[in-house]
Amino acid sequence: MTADSLSPTILCVDDEAPGLYFRKLILERQGYRVVTATSADDGIELFKTSDIDLVVTDHLMGRATGTKMAAEIRRLKPDIPIIVLSGTTNIPEGLESADFFLPKTEGPEKLLEKVRELLALNRPNSAAQVGPAQEQPLFSLETGPLQSLLAAIVEGSDDAIFSKTLDGIITSWNKAAERMYGYSVGEVIGKPVSLLMPSDRPNEMNDILETLRRGHGIKHFETRRRAKDGRELTVILTVSPIRDDLGKIVGASTTARDITQAKMAEQAIRSSEKLAIAGRMAATVAHEINNPLEAVTNILYLLENSAQLDDTAREFVRAAQTELKRISQITKLTLGFHRGSERRETPVKIMDLIDDALTLYERKVMTLGIALNKRYHGTGVVHADPGELRQVFSNLIVNAMDALARTGNQLFVHVFDSRDWRDPSVKGVRTVVSDNGGGIAREHHARLFKPFYTTKGEKGTGVGLWVSRGIIEKHGGSIRFRSSTKPGVSGTSFSVFLPYVSQTRNKFPFCKLGR
Ligand SMILES: Nc1ncnc2c1ncn2[C@@H]1O[C@H](COP(=O)(O)OP(=O)(O)O)[C@@H](O)[C@H]1O
Ligand SMILES: [Mg+2]
Repeated sequence: MTADSLSPTILCVDDEAPGLYFRKLILERQGYRVVTATSADDGIELFKTSDIDLVVTDHLMGRATGTKMAAEIRRLKPDIPIIVLSGTTNIPEGLESADFFLPKTEGPEKLLEKVRELLALNRPNSAAQVGPAQEQPLFSLETGPLQSLLAAIVEGSDDAIFSKTLDGIITSWNKAAERMYGYSVGEVIGKPVSLLMPSDRPNEMNDILETLRRGHGIKHFETRRRAKDGRELTVILTVSPIRDDLGKIVGASTTARDITQAKMAEQAIRSSEKLAIAGRMAATVAHEINNPLEAVTNILYLLENSAQLDDTAREFVRAAQTELKRISQITKLTLGFHRGSERRETPVKIMDLIDDALTLYERKVMTLGIALNKRYHGTGVVHADPGELRQVFSNLIVNAMDALARTGNQLFVHVFDSRDWRDPSVKGVRTVVSDNGGGIAREHHARLFKPFYTTKGEKGTGVGLWVSRGIIEKHGGSIRFRSSTKPGVSGTSFSVFLPYVSQTRNKFPFCKLGR
């Protein structure tokens, strides 16, 4: 991104790849350079080989802990500040080597505040205060012909930089602007800058030009722009008036930074926080419901066995009991869906997870007229985190049902003992979830496991498959799919392999994080 060699370098360590990925994006958005590692050993190795200014590490990482890593780093370079993060709010032992402990629930603002504070303490005269590039002494007048130096800086910038007249006609356009907006220099010079405006902001450009005519600039203005291919970008603009030798304003220069990805990451974090709150809430409610539920169950039991009841009344009581069983099953599931921030690996029976998910969607299966075909063979037991696997299989089932809501009517779930196709000596459990829905067009295959890819608009998050793949690979397993859109034989089949024992944590990192 836009960090330069003057930006402080932060080493981020976490074995949870999605968390690490978003943390990196958020720090980079502030102008820091970020290098990442997914284990304590890799973190220490990176620390030794790179010039690191600050370390942000998760606490629990498999068998290693962030505090132990902090102690090692402190031993190597006592001056480097270390922030330890944790999924729990309990303060871990051995924190004395760290400068600060932050529960992950505190949110990104708190982390950024701490990072700034610790860097400022440690590097008071340096670029700890990251800001726009022009505030830093990048060159001096003696270093060469100023004009060509400036031109080189503008051309090489990661931010889009362009200039325009006071009427909004574009007069220059750098490489980054070409990349960001998709227009080549030839296409935009001489064109009105309103070309970049989304249709819902008709007055914004006039307001900006008016501000400039009055001699004022605009700093760090977050807004939206439209690229050539119609994509909407979230950008941060800094617009400054350009004056001629006599001080008269003759135009303006604009620096634009594309923060679309970072924005999406922020939204995903916010919605996952919301989900966590909703989960906790649901678990509390389910817990509360369980007490009266037990009472009613007992009352019905007594009633059923009462001698005074006639046959019809007894039938009613039985029907009530059946419905009540459903309620208690749902509360049990709701409690099961809520998991604390701690991972725990235990023996998990995959059939049970799938049956749980299917119970929750029983009504939808019925109303959509879906024919469900379940085939279970073998033990189906793997050593894994039940909460995480539940998430994987629920998403596969919901995806299949979403597809079937449009076309098709068959849902097929097959669980059986199998071997890893990459290494047949590894035994485990394979789960196949198939539907005869509309299928996935070939041109979308490559994007399926990418974050935020969804075809469901507001209803989808596009993180289901991405997160699933992370979870499966963390357990040493793999996921594949086949799909066809051919009318008559269309459908999609996802196949998940999980080894009986997940011995290969992080062997197949699902997104590139390091540099
Ligand atoms: N069984 C399926 N049939 C058709 N399309 C699917 C199926 N499973 C996944 N997809 C496609 O993959 C996209 C990404 O899925 P996912 O990562 O679970 O996110 P989401 O369900 O929130 O959209 C879906 O929006 C959909 O276009
Ligand atoms: Mg999904």
